Amino acid sequence: ARVGVIVPAAGSGVRLGEDSPKAFVDLGGSTILERCVSGVVGAGIDAFVVVVVPAELVGHARELLPGVTVVPGGAHRSESVRAGLDACGDADVILVHDAARPLTPPGVFRRVLDAVLAGHEAVVPGLPVVDTLKRVDTLKRVVPGDGAEAVTETVDREPLRAVATPQGFTRDALLRAHADDGGLATDDAGLAERCGIEVAVVPGDALGFKITTPWDLRIARMLVS
Ligand code: CTP
Ligand code: MG
Repeated sequence: ARVGVIVPAAGSGVRLGEDSPKAFVDLGGSTILERCVSGVVGAGIDAFVVVVVPAELVGHARELLPGVTVVPGGAHRSESVRAGLDACGDADVILVHDAARPLTPPGVFRRVLDAVLAGHEAVVPGLPVVDTLKRVDTLKRVVPGDGAEAVTETVDREPLRAVATPQGFTRDALLRAHADDGGLATDDAGLAERCGIEVAVVPGDALGFKITTPWDLRIARMLVS
């Protein structure tokens, strides 16, 4: 099968709060984006790679990643993925992998790809949730100045999974998932679910964590040092 990998890297990284967009922040001597693309190539899956970056950084990204297709993204993640999809040529299987998960090990790419090749239309890597989860709402008893919230329920975590990327799809499934505007969807499998496509979960890996906050960047920098 011809495999395409779309790397959405067009976000601004508001929660990280660095000066440059998140994918262009340094992680031990190279950018998060370069690390991520090395990880994709290092997974040994022989894929066509399309990287999606902020419009003003297309030229810079092409210099950082010679030989990689780089296209401009959009305001929402789903728009950026669609831009990547348009540049993906005739791939029959497409993996979508966030630039913000640069330490994802090769085994995760292989498990996701193998599951698509085995016949699943949509596949995500997932891990059990370790924290105790509470649903919250506003407090009835208002105590001035403390900003606390009220617990309304303890959620059963047993049937929950925290999912990551790469998320793998048949070309047809990803096209159907993105046929309508994805709006504020945070992942592609969510769009596939809305179309009635069954999404399979395979084991993820803790190293596939997403760099979202300054704390995550600290951990990532320690891991690569
Ligand atoms: N992304 C994208 N285009 C957007 C928004 C996000 O390609 N318009 C990408 C990000 O670059 C990232 C991935 O989607 O690799 C996951 O998004 P997230 O972790 O939310 O990154 P940001 O949107 O950059 O961060 P924040 O939400 O804190 O601003
Ligand atoms: Mg975001």
